[in-house]
Amino acid sequence: MHRIGVITAGGDAPGMNTAIRAVVRSAIYEGLEVIGFEKGYEGLVEGQAIKMESRSVSGIINLGGTILKTYRCEEIKTPQGLRKAADVLEKCKIDGLVTIGGDGTFRGASGLHDVSKVSVVGIPATIDNDIAGTDTTIGFDTAVNIALSAIDKIRDTATSHERIFIVEVMGRKRGFLALEVGLAGGAEEILIPEIKFDLDKICNRLKQARKKGKTSEIIVMAEGAGDSHSMVDYIAKNSGYQVRLSVLGYIQRGGSPTAISRTLACQFGHHAVKMLVEGAEAKMVGIRDGKIVSVDLEYAWKEQKEIDLRLHKLAQVLST
Ligand code: F6P
Repeated sequence: MHRIGVITAGGDAPGMNTAIRAVVRSAIYEGLEVIGFEKGYEGLVEGQAIKMESRSVSGIINLGGTILKTYRCEEIKTPQGLRKAADVLEKCKIDGLVTIGGDGTFRGASGLHDVSKVSVVGIPATIDNDIAGTDTTIGFDTAVNIALSAIDKIRDTATSHERIFIVEVMGRKRGFLALEVGLAGGAEEILIPEIKFDLDKICNRLKQARKKGKTSEIIVMAEGAGDSHSMVDYIAKNSGYQVRLSVLGYIQRGGSPTAISRTLACQFGHHAVKMLVEGAEAKMVGIRDGKIVSVDLEYAWKEQKEIDLRLHKLAQVLST
Protein backbone atom coordinates (compact mmCIF):
# COMPACT_ATOMS: atom_id res chain seq x y z
CA MET A 1 0.00 0.00 0.00
CA HIS A 2 1.55 3.30 -1.15
CA ARG A 3 -1.23 5.76 -1.77
CA ILE A 4 -4.73 6.06 -0.31
CA GLY A 5 -7.71 8.21 -1.19
CA VAL A 6 -10.22 9.82 1.16
CA ILE A 7 -13.72 11.13 0.49
CA THR A 8 -16.68 12.42 2.47
CA ALA A 9 -20.09 11.58 0.97
CA GLY A 10 -23.81 11.84 1.75
CA GLY A 11 -25.12 14.27 4.37
CA ASP A 12 -22.39 16.08 6.26
CA ALA A 13 -21.91 15.40 9.98
CA PRO A 14 -19.97 17.39 12.61
CA GLY A 15 -16.64 15.62 13.09
CA MET A 16 -16.06 14.73 9.44
CA ASN A 17 -13.19 17.23 9.33
CA THR A 18 -11.71 15.73 12.48
CA ALA A 19 -11.83 12.34 10.76
CA ILE A 20 -10.19 13.69 7.56
CA ARG A 21 -7.37 15.12 9.69
CA ALA A 22 -6.92 11.79 11.48
CA VAL A 23 -6.86 9.85 8.19
CA VAL A 24 -4.36 12.19 6.53
CA ARG A 25 -1.96 12.38 9.46
CA SER A 26 -2.18 8.66 10.32
CA ALA A 27 -1.49 7.79 6.68
CA ILE A 28 1.54 10.11 6.59
CA TYR A 29 2.73 8.50 9.84
CA GLU A 30 2.48 5.10 8.09
CA GLY A 31 4.52 6.45 5.16
CA LEU A 32 1.56 6.64 2.74
CA GLU A 33 0.58 9.36 0.30
CA VAL A 34 -2.95 10.73 0.54
CA ILE A 35 -5.24 12.05 -2.19
CA GLY A 36 -8.50 13.77 -1.24
CA PHE A 37 -11.40 13.56 -3.70
CA GLU A 38 -13.73 16.54 -3.46
CA LYS A 39 -17.55 16.50 -3.48
CA GLY A 40 -17.93 12.83 -2.54
CA TYR A 41 -18.52 10.31 -5.34
CA GLU A 42 -19.52 13.18 -7.64
CA GLY A 43 -15.94 14.51 -7.52
CA LEU A 44 -14.43 11.04 -7.59
CA VAL A 45 -16.25 10.19 -10.82
CA GLU A 46 -15.03 13.49 -12.29
CA GLY A 47 -11.48 12.99 -10.97
CA GLN A 48 -11.41 16.06 -8.68
CA ALA A 49 -8.29 15.00 -6.80
CA ILE A 50 -6.05 17.01 -4.48
CA LYS A 51 -2.85 15.91 -2.76
CA MET A 52 -3.25 16.11 1.01
CA GLU A 53 -0.31 17.00 3.23
CA SER A 54 -0.13 17.34 6.99
CA ARG A 55 -0.64 21.11 6.63
CA SER A 56 -3.73 20.63 4.42
CA VAL A 57 -5.61 19.56 7.54
CA SER A 58 -4.32 22.20 9.97
CA GLY A 59 -6.94 24.05 12.00
CA ILE A 60 -9.89 21.84 11.06
CA ILE A 61 -10.23 19.59 14.12
CA ASN A 62 -13.01 21.84 15.47
CA LEU A 63 -14.72 22.79 12.19
CA GLY A 64 -18.22 21.58 11.27
CA GLY A 65 -18.96 20.50 7.69
CA THR A 66 -16.25 18.96 5.52
CA ILE A 67 -13.33 20.69 3.80
CA LEU A 68 -13.56 18.02 1.07
CA LYS A 69 -17.23 18.98 0.45
CA THR A 70 -19.93 16.38 0.03
CA TYR A 71 -22.64 15.60 -2.52
CA ARG A 72 -25.45 13.12 -2.88
CA CYS A 73 -24.41 11.34 -6.07
CA GLU A 74 -26.84 9.37 -8.27
CA GLU A 75 -24.22 8.30 -10.82
CA ILE A 76 -22.33 6.07 -8.36
CA LYS A 77 -25.50 3.91 -8.12
CA THR A 78 -25.06 2.92 -11.78
CA PRO A 79 -22.54 0.45 -13.30
CA GLN A 80 -21.26 3.25 -15.57
CA GLY A 81 -20.66 5.55 -12.59
CA LEU A 82 -18.83 2.83 -10.69
CA ARG A 83 -16.67 2.12 -13.76
CA LYS A 84 -15.79 5.80 -14.14
CA ALA A 85 -14.85 6.07 -10.44
CA ALA A 86 -12.78 2.86 -10.65
CA ASP A 87 -10.90 4.27 -13.67
CA VAL A 88 -10.10 7.46 -11.74
CA LEU A 89 -8.80 5.41 -8.78
CA GLU A 90 -6.62 3.41 -11.16
CA LYS A 91 -5.33 6.53 -12.92
CA CYS A 92 -4.48 8.13 -9.56
CA LYS A 93 -2.75 4.88 -8.47
CA ILE A 94 -4.95 4.56 -5.38
CA ASP A 95 -4.51 1.26 -3.48
CA GLY A 96 -6.94 1.96 -0.67
CA LEU A 97 -9.91 4.28 -0.16
CA VAL A 98 -11.35 5.66 3.09
CA THR A 99 -14.99 6.65 2.68
CA ILE A 100 -16.49 8.82 5.42
CA GLY A 101 -20.30 8.90 5.51
CA GLY A 102 -23.44 6.82 6.03
CA ASP A 103 -25.10 3.78 4.50
CA GLY A 104 -25.36 5.24 0.98
CA THR A 105 -21.63 6.01 1.11
CA PHE A 106 -20.87 2.43 2.14
CA ARG A 107 -23.13 0.96 -0.55
CA GLY A 108 -21.14 2.97 -3.10
CA ALA A 109 -17.86 1.83 -1.51
CA SER A 110 -18.91 -1.86 -1.69
CA GLY A 111 -19.76 -1.41 -5.38
CA LEU A 112 -16.43 0.26 -6.01
CA HIS A 113 -14.56 -2.54 -4.28
CA ASP A 114 -16.34 -5.13 -6.46
CA VAL A 115 -15.52 -3.26 -9.67
CA SER A 116 -11.99 -2.05 -8.92
CA LYS A 117 -10.65 -4.41 -6.24
CA VAL A 118 -9.33 -1.31 -4.48
CA SER A 119 -9.45 -1.91 -0.70
CA VAL A 120 -12.07 0.21 1.03
CA VAL A 121 -12.64 1.08 4.67
CA GLY A 122 -15.70 3.05 5.74
CA ILE A 123 -15.87 5.48 8.63
CA PRO A 124 -19.43 5.90 9.96
CA ALA A 125 -20.32 9.59 10.08
CA THR A 126 -23.97 10.56 10.18
CA ILE A 127 -26.17 12.44 12.63
CA ASP A 128 -28.78 9.67 12.18
CA ASN A 129 -26.69 6.97 13.94
CA ASP A 130 -28.47 4.41 11.75
CA ILE A 131 -25.46 2.26 10.83
CA ALA A 132 -25.37 -1.40 11.87
CA GLY A 133 -22.18 -2.73 13.48
CA THR A 134 -21.32 0.38 15.48
CA ASP A 135 -22.89 1.69 18.67
CA THR A 136 -22.49 5.26 17.53
CA THR A 137 -21.42 7.40 14.58
CA ILE A 138 -19.41 10.60 14.16
CA GLY A 139 -21.73 13.60 14.49
CA PHE A 140 -24.53 11.89 16.39
CA ASP A 141 -23.55 13.22 19.82
CA THR A 142 -23.14 16.74 18.40
CA ALA A 143 -26.59 16.65 16.80
CA VAL A 144 -28.13 15.33 20.03
CA ASN A 145 -26.61 18.24 21.96
CA ILE A 146 -27.70 20.84 19.40
CA ALA A 147 -31.29 19.55 19.47
CA LEU A 148 -31.21 19.30 23.25
CA SER A 149 -30.16 22.90 23.66
CA ALA A 150 -33.03 23.92 21.33
CA ILE A 151 -35.53 21.89 23.37
CA ASP A 152 -34.39 23.48 26.62
CA LYS A 153 -35.15 26.88 25.09
CA ILE A 154 -38.47 25.75 23.64
CA ARG A 155 -39.52 24.47 27.06
CA ASP A 156 -39.27 28.03 28.42
CA THR A 157 -41.81 29.35 25.94
CA ALA A 158 -43.97 26.20 26.17
CA THR A 159 -44.23 26.66 29.95
CA SER A 160 -44.88 30.41 29.75
CA HIS A 161 -47.67 30.05 27.20
CA GLU A 162 -49.01 26.75 28.55
CA ARG A 163 -48.69 25.19 25.11
CA ILE A 164 -47.81 21.85 23.60
CA PHE A 165 -44.75 21.93 21.34
CA ILE A 166 -44.00 19.33 18.75
CA VAL A 167 -40.27 19.43 18.07
CA GLU A 168 -39.33 17.65 14.87
CA VAL A 169 -35.78 16.33 14.69
CA MET A 170 -33.92 14.71 11.81
CA GLY A 171 -33.04 11.01 11.56
CA ARG A 172 -34.29 10.05 8.10
CA LYS A 173 -36.30 6.83 8.50
CA ARG A 174 -35.01 6.04 12.00
CA GLY A 175 -35.62 7.35 15.52
CA PHE A 176 -32.16 7.19 17.18
CA LEU A 177 -31.77 10.96 17.33
CA ALA A 178 -35.34 11.58 18.53
CA LEU A 179 -35.09 8.91 21.21
CA GLU A 180 -31.87 10.21 22.73
CA VAL A 181 -32.94 13.86 22.51
CA GLY A 182 -36.40 13.06 23.91
CA LEU A 183 -35.03 11.17 26.89
CA ALA A 184 -32.35 13.74 27.70
CA GLY A 185 -34.77 16.65 27.16
CA GLY A 186 -37.52 15.19 29.37
CA ALA A 187 -40.05 15.00 26.52
CA GLU A 188 -43.49 13.77 27.54
CA GLU A 189 -43.92 11.91 24.22
CA ILE A 190 -41.33 10.57 21.80
CA LEU A 191 -42.70 9.64 18.40
CA ILE A 192 -40.40 7.43 16.35
CA PRO A 193 -40.96 5.25 13.27
CA GLU A 194 -39.98 2.10 15.19
CA ILE A 195 -42.96 2.33 17.61
CA LYS A 196 -46.62 2.61 16.57
CA PHE A 197 -48.53 5.41 18.23
CA ASP A 198 -52.19 6.38 18.46
CA LEU A 199 -52.90 10.12 18.30
CA ASP A 200 -56.31 9.70 19.98
CA LYS A 201 -54.67 8.00 22.96
CA ILE A 202 -52.08 10.78 23.10
CA CYS A 203 -54.82 13.45 23.06
CA ASN A 204 -56.72 11.66 25.86
CA ARG A 205 -53.56 11.42 27.94
CA LEU A 206 -52.89 15.13 27.36
CA LYS A 207 -56.39 15.99 28.61
CA GLN A 208 -55.96 13.79 31.71
CA ALA A 209 -52.55 15.30 32.43
CA ARG A 210 -54.02 18.79 32.21
CA LYS A 211 -56.69 17.89 34.76
CA LYS A 212 -53.88 16.77 37.07
CA GLY A 213 -52.11 20.14 36.75
CA LYS A 214 -49.74 19.68 33.80
CA THR A 215 -49.93 22.81 31.69
CA SER A 216 -47.40 22.29 28.93
CA GLU A 217 -45.70 19.40 27.21
CA ILE A 218 -42.94 18.69 24.72
CA ILE A 219 -43.45 16.06 22.05
CA VAL A 220 -40.22 15.09 20.27
CA MET A 221 -40.93 13.63 16.90
CA ALA A 222 -38.56 11.97 14.42
CA GLU A 223 -38.97 13.30 10.89
CA GLY A 224 -39.65 9.72 9.76
CA ALA A 225 -42.57 9.26 12.17
CA GLY A 226 -45.16 11.08 10.04
CA ASP A 227 -46.36 14.49 8.92
CA SER A 228 -45.73 16.90 11.79
CA HIS A 229 -47.97 19.63 10.34
CA SER A 230 -51.07 17.45 10.28
CA MET A 231 -50.21 16.14 13.77
CA VAL A 232 -50.18 19.69 15.10
CA ASP A 233 -53.65 20.29 13.62
CA TYR A 234 -55.01 17.00 14.94
CA ILE A 235 -53.67 17.44 18.47
CA ALA A 236 -54.84 21.08 18.60
CA LYS A 237 -58.38 20.00 17.63
CA ASN A 238 -58.55 17.06 20.00
CA SER A 239 -56.62 18.00 23.12
CA GLY A 240 -57.85 21.47 24.04
CA TYR A 241 -54.28 22.80 24.06
CA GLN A 242 -52.67 25.37 21.79
CA VAL A 243 -50.09 23.46 19.79
CA ARG A 244 -47.00 24.79 18.03
CA LEU A 245 -44.46 23.12 15.77
CA SER A 246 -40.72 23.66 15.72
CA VAL A 247 -38.81 21.87 12.96
CA LEU A 248 -35.15 21.99 13.96
CA GLY A 249 -33.84 21.11 10.50
CA TYR A 250 -30.30 21.62 9.28
CA ILE A 251 -28.92 23.36 12.37
CA GLN A 252 -28.58 19.80 13.71
CA ARG A 253 -25.92 19.09 11.08
CA GLY A 254 -23.75 22.16 11.59
CA GLY A 255 -21.37 23.66 14.11
CA SER A 256 -18.34 22.56 16.02
CA PRO A 257 -18.23 18.84 16.91
CA THR A 258 -18.49 17.87 20.59
CA ALA A 259 -15.59 16.20 22.39
CA ILE A 260 -17.33 12.83 21.94
CA SER A 261 -17.70 13.31 18.17
CA ARG A 262 -14.08 14.47 17.91
CA THR A 263 -12.49 11.68 19.95
CA LEU A 264 -14.51 9.14 17.98
CA ALA A 265 -13.37 10.73 14.70
CA CYS A 266 -9.71 10.68 15.80
CA GLN A 267 -9.95 6.97 16.66
CA PHE A 268 -11.98 5.99 13.59
CA GLY A 269 -9.65 7.88 11.23
CA HIS A 270 -6.55 6.32 12.75
CA HIS A 271 -7.93 2.78 12.79
CA ALA A 272 -9.31 3.02 9.25
CA VAL A 273 -5.77 3.69 7.96
CA LYS A 274 -4.36 0.90 10.14
CA MET A 275 -6.95 -1.51 8.77
CA LEU A 276 -5.95 -0.67 5.18
CA VAL A 277 -2.27 -1.11 6.01
CA GLU A 278 -3.02 -4.48 7.62
CA GLY A 279 -4.82 -5.68 4.48
CA ALA A 280 -8.54 -5.02 5.10
CA GLU A 281 -10.46 -5.25 1.81
CA ALA A 282 -14.04 -4.10 2.39
CA LYS A 283 -14.58 -3.15 6.02
CA MET A 284 -16.02 -0.45 8.23
CA VAL A 285 -14.48 0.73 11.46
CA GLY A 286 -16.94 0.83 14.36
CA ILE A 287 -17.16 0.99 18.13
CA ARG A 288 -18.87 -1.69 20.25
CA ASP A 289 -18.95 -1.51 24.05
CA GLY A 290 -16.16 1.06 24.02
CA LYS A 291 -13.84 -1.01 21.80
CA ILE A 292 -12.85 -0.19 18.22
CA VAL A 293 -13.95 -3.00 15.90
CA SER A 294 -13.75 -4.00 12.26
CA VAL A 295 -17.10 -4.79 10.60
CA ASP A 296 -17.87 -6.21 7.15
CA LEU A 297 -18.82 -3.25 4.99
CA GLU A 298 -21.85 -5.04 3.54
CA TYR A 299 -23.17 -5.74 7.04
CA ALA A 300 -23.00 -2.03 7.84
CA TRP A 301 -25.34 -0.94 5.04
CA LYS A 302 -27.49 -4.05 4.59
CA GLU A 303 -28.45 -4.81 8.19
CA GLN A 304 -31.01 -2.83 10.19
CA LYS A 305 -29.57 -1.45 13.40
CA GLU A 306 -31.65 -2.26 16.49
CA ILE A 307 -32.98 0.65 18.52
CA ASP A 308 -33.00 0.39 22.33
CA LEU A 309 -36.70 0.41 23.14
CA ARG A 310 -35.94 0.40 26.88
CA LEU A 311 -34.94 4.06 26.52
CA HIS A 312 -38.42 4.84 25.19
CA LYS A 313 -40.06 3.10 28.15
CA LEU A 314 -37.72 4.93 30.53
CA ALA A 315 -38.63 8.30 29.03
CA GLN A 316 -42.32 7.48 29.58
CA VAL A 317 -41.77 6.50 33.21
CA LEU A 318 -39.74 9.61 33.95
CA SER A 319 -42.02 12.14 32.29
CA THR A 320 -45.30 11.42 34.13
O1 F6P B 1 -28.67 11.62 6.82
C1 F6P B 1 -28.54 12.87 7.42
C2 F6P B 1 -29.77 13.71 7.15
O2 F6P B 1 -29.59 14.98 7.75
C3 F6P B 1 -31.09 13.10 7.59
O3 F6P B 1 -31.32 13.23 8.97
C4 F6P B 1 -32.05 13.86 6.73
O4 F6P B 1 -33.26 13.14 6.53
C5 F6P B 1 -31.30 13.98 5.43
O5 F6P B 1 -29.92 13.91 5.76
C6 F6P B 1 -31.54 15.25 4.67
O6 F6P B 1 -30.92 15.12 3.45
P1 F6P B 1 -30.49 16.32 2.49
O7 F6P B 1 -29.22 16.88 3.02
O8 F6P B 1 -30.25 15.65 1.16
O9 F6P B 1 -31.61 17.31 2.48
